[in-house]
Amino acid sequence: MSLQTSSSWRLEWDDSLSMGVPEIDAEHQHFMQLINQLNEAIAERMGIEEVKQRMRAILEDAKAHFAHEEALFREWNYPDAVAHTQKHVQLMAALHTIMQRFEHNCLEYELIDAGLKIKTALIEHLLTEDMKYRRR
Ligand SMILES: [Fe+2]
Ligand SMILES: [Fe+2]
Repeated sequence: MSLQTSSSWRLEWDDSLSMGVPEIDAEHQHFMQLINQLNEAIAERMGIEEVKQRMRAILEDAKAHFAHEEALFREWNYPDAVAHTQKHVQLMAALHTIMQRFEHNCLEYELIDAGLKIKTALIEHLLTEDMKYRRR
């Protein structure tokens, strides 16, 4: 795995993560920035509302990014489009379930745990599912 972590959270882009599709790489880099910003909000104790706000930003970004990938799949006639799109749907449902727990009150450690789960699920998707459409 090529993701360098200088703390338990911090993500650094590296060329081995390139999909060979510049617009997608730009979005994946942006996603990693959002994860690092979430990390900062937690590490610097910016407060629960700020942490939640940054989690929501990640979910919104993922939603738009997934739609973009799906549009490209149609353009490419990508054979795994249906299976990949299903993964997106499942992932968004899982992320919404994680977020719903915070609609009312929550403890700080629960929020940190949720942040880690969101990060892990999305990174795992990038490294497994997205890598399948990599263009060399
Ligand atoms: Fe992606
Ligand atoms: Fe994807």
